[in-house]
Amino acid sequence: MTAKEKMNKMKYRRIIVSRHGGPEVLQVVEEGLPEPQPGEVRVRVLAAGVSAYDLMFRRSGSFPGTPRVPFTLGEDIVGVVDKLGEGVSNIKPGQMVAGGTFSLGVGGGYTEYICLSVSELVVVPHGVDPAEAVCLVVNYLTAYAALHRTANVQKGERILVHGAAGGVGTALLQLGKLAGLEMYGTASKHNHELVSGLGATPIDYRSEDFVKRIHNITGDGVDAVFDPIGGAMQVWRSYRALRKGGRLAWFGVAATKKAGLRVIPFTILMVFLLKVIPDGKKMPLTPDIGKDNAWYRETLTELLDLVASGSIKPVIAERIPLVEATRAHELLERGGYAGKVVLITDT
Ligand SMILES: NC(=O)c1ccc[n+]([C@@H]2O[C@H](COP(=O)([O-])OP(=O)(O)OC[C@H]3O[C@@H](n4cnc5c(N)ncnc54)[C@H](OP(=O)(O)O)[C@@H]3O)[C@@H](O)[C@H]2O)c1
Repeated sequence: MTAKEKMNKMKYRRIIVSRHGGPEVLQVVEEGLPEPQPGEVRVRVLAAGVSAYDLMFRRSGSFPGTPRVPFTLGEDIVGVVDKLGEGVSNIKPGQMVAGGTFSLGVGGGYTEYICLSVSELVVVPHGVDPAEAVCLVVNYLTAYAALHRTANVQKGERILVHGAAGGVGTALLQLGKLAGLEMYGTASKHNHELVSGLGATPIDYRSEDFVKRIHNITGDGVDAVFDPIGGAMQVWRSYRALRKGGRLAWFGVAATKKAGLRVIPFTILMVFLLKVIPDGKKMPLTPDIGKDNAWYRETLTELLDLVASGSIKPVIAERIPLVEATRAHELLERGGYAGKVVLITDT
């Protein structure tokens, strides 16, 4: 059998959400390799990110945009280019690439092989760990956009980061340090050493009132708050931690983990109420990182260079084999981890 015939017969594994429910609904399926369409490349996946969004799509079909089961989760991948589709010339087989699966809807990254448009992929510099690189695609791009596009932070400003030990929180602290900011971060007590190691003053959101603590330390409040937690009361309190002229960047609903999807409409209502208060504080909306392709490619390249030079080092909570995706979701449901959970295929 020729190498081409062997490849045509080859099977690969991907993880599907077989029905809505707990982590156990994730199942491994085997199928023939996908073929890249014109403008696409086929990537042999080395690392795939797991995110809080994945949990929402897995749990129930009522979250807007959830496809019909079965479907594959996963917003971010890093892998090696394995086959080129027609018309692709700017990338070579064997090159390592990183990218988002945004054009596929909810994802598709929990897989050994995936076909993606070359426009979504950026070449990973030599020597960069694929698991570290995959943290950049969603978490660091979100953090970068929140810091530099939404809140437009300036050197020397004070910021408060909620969920500071989380995937996006650790990214905000590492990029915030590079931007020369004075930083405060809410986290559970057991994550305080990590948060202070990343250059922020930790605040225990479980036992302390962060609004009081921020005003006690700073006097008039912080210049920007980054809130991926959501919930009407949480967002209101984040707003109160701002000084006059401060900006609140709300970009997530981690609170849904405990309180369910009903948190979302109440958060949105509060955000719109706060937007109309004429008190000099601002609630700029965070742009969708997948929408502006030129910005996405340029910034992801810049972030990959920062990892390659050792200027940033993504925090990986755990590397879990792809076929144990259920275990990865159990960990996310349970909490108590720090950084990003990554699925890996080469074990
Ligand atoms: N808009 C976007 O483009 C975008 C992109 C990525 C993520 N997100 C959003 O951002 C959220 C966070 O993502 P992630 O990947 O960083 O999640 P993650 O890694 O699970 O981290 C979430 C963190 O939230 C902390 N936490 C939970 N309740 C809290 C509270 N009441 N106050 C302060 N911290 C609290 C936990 O901290 P402890 O363990 O220390 O308790 C945990 O470290 C997601 O839910 C998602 O909605 C949005």
